[in-house]
Amino acid sequence: MKVLIINGPNLNFLGIREKNVYGNTTYEEMCSYLYKEAKKLQVPIDIVQSNIEGEIINFIQDAYDKYDGIIINAGAYTHYSIAIFDAIKSVSINTIEVHLSNIYAREEFRQKSVTAPACIGQICGFGKYGYVMALNALLQK
Ligand code: DQA
Repeated sequence: MKVLIINGPNLNFLGIREKNVYGNTTYEEMCSYLYKEAKKLQVPIDIVQSNIEGEIINFIQDAYDKYDGIIINAGAYTHYSIAIFDAIKSVSINTIEVHLSNIYAREEFRQKSVTAPACIGQICGFGKYGYVMALNALLQK
């Protein structure tokens, strides 16, 4: 099983942005942690990041026939990108949505995910560990 982790806008600024919400861990540190945890689970992963909606859609489309699972944190696009919803639906790859923060305990505009209904499930509020939970969930599937 091969898994693609897709991170969306502003996640490359982890460790710099809103540390009270997202913590001190930098994006690079989070990626190293995820590669290490995936190795322990013996799941090959690739991690990509883009601030651009169309590039995220290209990542999803390029995953077709190459990956068995996708873990996506689409950042703010989560809340309004029908195009990302459509892309996830298009490829028919088991996809899990992850958020570092608990989006349901935050501003009202974050409490709706338009992309989650295209996914097999959503994990939020557990920081970077949420991605590891998602890897385990994909393994169970
Ligand atoms: C986020 C939550 C989103 O609302 C926000 O726009 C982000 C990060 C999270 O991981 O908690 O950029 O996806």
